[in-house]
Amino acid sequence: MPRRLTGFTPSGELHLGNYLGAIRPILAGQDRAVRSGRDAGPSDTVVFISDLHALTLDHDPQQVRRRTLEFAALLLAAGADPDRCLFLVQSHVPEHAELHYLLECVAGYGEAQRMIQFKEKARRQEQVRVSLLTYPILMAADILLYDTDEVPVGEDQRQHVELARDVASRFNARYGQTFTVPRAVNPPVAARIMDLTTPNVKMSKSASSAAGALRLLDEPDALRRKVMRAVTDTGGDVVYDVEGRPGVSNLLDILAACTEQQPAQLADEFNRYSDLKQATADAVVATLAPVRERYLDIVAKPDYIREVLRDGAARARTYAGEKLKAAKSALGLLPV
Ligand code: ADP
Ligand code: TRP
Repeated sequence: MPRRLTGFTPSGELHLGNYLGAIRPILAGQDRAVRSGRDAGPSDTVVFISDLHALTLDHDPQQVRRRTLEFAALLLAAGADPDRCLFLVQSHVPEHAELHYLLECVAGYGEAQRMIQFKEKARRQEQVRVSLLTYPILMAADILLYDTDEVPVGEDQRQHVELARDVASRFNARYGQTFTVPRAVNPPVAARIMDLTTPNVKMSKSASSAAGALRLLDEPDALRRKVMRAVTDTGGDVVYDVEGRPGVSNLLDILAACTEQQPAQLADEFNRYSDLKQATADAVVATLAPVRERYLDIVAKPDYIREVLRDGAARARTYAGEKLKAAKSALGLLPV
């Protein structure tokens, strides 16, 4: 069983794209195998809230704290099972930040500067934090601490996983075999759910408007309303053509992902946009309403969430601590 890991940065509101493209696929890993035979390893699925990454852009401390708890509760509601995956908050495991520094001594400045996401985000900021530049190196630390084999990511994060690969290979070659070299894998379906109001850009936590994103915490009525008002294309027939008919194709992709069918086949079942929208709204509500209900149960028990996170951090530190010790020793640091 390959070990898979992913992180969720507590900025913005989690949406259907995150759920179908990232949350559901990573949690499916918990069900495939409970544990590999690896000694003292964490579970084969590692899910964490990357709160340190939320500090790379201008942030509001209270919002980060609130969202960290909200994301934890939502991931639990979506099916993260702390007995079957390693579930943690990044800043609770100081080994992430410590390995980050060590990897900064292996990664190149030019390498970090070339990252497309850095260039795009830096262009939009007046004050660019140094941590925005080193963000992918922290991400490499997240990945390498747990001997991750596979990182399921969308296109925008692929380059960061490539950097983690390069850093791991370079470290191993120069200082001795220490890290598993990870690879980026595509999530199986629904890699790109598009914004409902502008179906040529992806649905996004930070960039989508309230009408464009189907948020995991939206009430069922709000979800329905947004789907019914989604932008469709000219030409009244239902065809699956991502380039030519982005609006309708996005609804077909959403319906397909929610009901585990094929979008092109679904297109044959509908003659009118309104019927497709109705079916899509039903499918979205059937998918997200139970998550929201479980969420409401879980947030009512903050002590439970904290206990889960405390336990996750303790388990993670056992593993990450060993890995960090090996990295320090390989780099020539004197043990205490
Ligand atoms: P956002 O782009 O909404 O800010 P992130 O970049 O933090 O979200 O992505 C978190 C995870 O969700 C990533 O694994 C990413 O690939 C996935 N994801 C984000 N948006 C979408 C989308 N519209 N469709 C499918 N998956 C998505
Ligand atoms: N940077 C990712 C994002 O914003 C989250 C993340 C942090 C991550 N560390 C990671 C994803 C390691 C995969 C692996 O979406």
